[in-house]
Order: sequence, then C-alpha cells, then structure tokens
Amino acid sequence: MSSAEVRVYEVGPRDGLQAEAAILPLEDKLRFCDLLADAGLREIEATSFVSPRAIPQLADADELMSRLERRPGVRYPVLVPNERGMARALAAGADAICVFTAATDAYAEHNIGMDVAGSLAAFAPVVAAARDRGMWVRGYVSTAFGCPYTGEVPERAVVEVSRSLLGLGVDELGISDTVGAAGPADVRRVLGALDGAGIGAGAIGLHFHDTRGTAIANVVTALELGCRTFDASTGGTGGSPFAPGSAGNLATEDLVYLLDREGVRHGVDLDGVLAAARFVAGRLGRELASKVGRAGGWPGR
Ligand code: COA
Ligand code: ZN
Repeated sequence: MSSAEVRVYEVGPRDGLQAEAAILPLEDKLRFCDLLADAGLREIEATSFVSPRAIPQLADADELMSRLERRPGVRYPVLVPNERGMARALAAGADAICVFTAATDAYAEHNIGMDVAGSLAAFAPVVAAARDRGMWVRGYVSTAFGCPYTGEVPERAVVEVSRSLLGLGVDELGISDTVGAAGPADVRRVLGALDGAGIGAGAIGLHFHDTRGTAIANVVTALELGCRTFDASTGGTGGSPFAPGSAGNLATEDLVYLLDREGVRHGVDLDGVLAAARFVAGRLGRELASKVGRAGGWPGR
C-alpha cells in the first residue's frame, strides 16, 4: 500500500451496483472498474459470489473477475457467503475476499439465511481456505449502528461478532452502518466499545451509508478517533436490497473532497472519481446522488 494516510476502500462495483434497479452490462462494469483504478483507487470491491437469485445485478461475477484487468498494486476483493461462493471466487482468480455477517440475527437471517452463529460456522472453512492461500480477508459486520428489523443495536453485539470474526482470522473488520442511522455519538460509542475490547482502529474499516446525511460527520469523528479506512461508492450508488429504506453508500467523491480539504493524503484523484461517477450514473440512467458530483470540486477548474 502507498504512503497514504487514509485508505479509501471503493465499494461501488459491489455495494453500489447490487442495489440498483438497472443491471449494467458486463462491459460497463469492467469500464467502471478501470476508471476507478485510473482515479488512483487501490482497493476496489469488484463483485459478489452470492446466489444470483439473491443478487441478480451481480450474477456475472465469474466472468467479470475472469475478464477484469488487474492493475498492479490494486486489490479487488469479492464477497463470498459460503463454500460454494469460495469455490467460484477461486476459480475466477480472486485473491482477496470478504465474508459478511451482522450484529443482529434478524438481519443475518434476511440477508444470508443464517443467524449470526450459523454464519460464523459457515465462514470458518472459507476463511481458513483463504488464509491457507495467503489471501486478504475482510469480515463485514452489517447493522452495527441499527437494524431495519430490530431497531437500535447494542454495542456489545458489535463487539461480540467482531471478536468472533477476528478469531476466525480475518485481517480487517468492515463495521457497517447498513441503514445509515448513525451519528457521531454512535460512532464514538461503538468504536469506544471495540477499543475497550482490544479491537483498535487499525483493524477496522468503516462503512457508512448516507441515508440521513450523517456519513461525512461520522467520517470526521472516526478520523479524530484514529480510523484510517473508509468505504465509499463512486457516484453514491447503492443501498442494500435487504435493508428497506437504506440509501447509497457515502459517495467516494464526497469523501475524497472532505479528505482533500482536511489535508489528509489518500492517493485518489477527485477529477478521476468524478469521471467514473458520471460514467456510472449515465449508464444507470440516474442523476448523481452525491453533493460533490453535482457541485464539482473547489476551486472549480
Ligand atoms: N453462488 C451461487 N449460487 C449459490 C451460492 C453461491 N455462493 N450459494 C447458494 N447458491 C444457490 C443454491 O444452489 C440454490 O440455488 P437453486 O435455488 O437454484 O437451487 C440457491 O442459491 C439457494 O441456496 P441455499 O443453500 O438453499 O441457500 P439460501 O437460499 O439459504 O441462500 C445464500 C443463502 C447465502 C446463498 C444467499 O442468501 C445469498 O447469496 N445471499 C447474499 C445476499 C447479499 O449478497 N446481500 C448483500 C450483501 S451485504
Ligand atoms: Zn453497504
């Protein structure tokens, strides 16, 4: 990884596209990934090896990973829900994976048809197989700041599942505000509880959805607490099909603009991100959802 102070972890091709009504053709997805790499993004979550029945938008994962031009120095993680998904990911040449569970049983059951304990048992052989091959592994904790089915989520639930995922051997956690409910006080509460359990900022990527406009405030708060990895989706696309009312991820262009204004090094070029954002919005036939996408950078060029 570069000498950047902050890692911008791009989730547009996966989290972004999985919840859009339009299904992009494979060629457009490949072009989107290329534009993201051109913009300097060094981690691009490319697709999911899940059931095509669950996520038809990403049913072309096998072909996408086989045809994707992998740039040196760029990591292209893919989601894997079970051993079947792992076999597909390996066959397609993936070298980094994400497993995903939740802080609440209700969400895990809706999303992956298993409760949290069941999902951890299912992931154990997947993570072990990945580690045997030297693959990088992230473990997502969905609904860490609120659950569409059960409401407020106690931080101890986040700590418990995070500990279990680290115990399986994941390299990093993706602590996720799936519904976009958190404010800064929630960020302090959850990160504080994780830190109290010995899980420091270095093991955490933060994944905010901007449903209620709080994602940027949450990033600033997490930066102050020492967090250095933030997920974002170019164009602000997405949501979760399993989280009613959830909106897109924090837009990469909004995050990059903020980091630039803060003087934080991150290695991503705002104009490049805007070009990728315009491309994907055009292909999806929708307006850019992001503030910076609409206004452009500052000073204008
Ligand atoms: N890849 C492709 N197909 C898969 C698969 C995989 N990794 N795992 C299971 N399937 C298929 C099965 O073959 C079966 O197909 P069929 O209906 O044609 O027979 C179907 O999916 C259901 O499989 P089953 O083992 O009964 O599991 P399930 O119905 O409980 O589904 C998951 C479990 C995990 C596969 C499914 O819920 C899923 O893919 N969820 C992903 C959700 C997601 O990506 N959410 C957004 C990310 S946060
Ligand atoms: Zn998400």
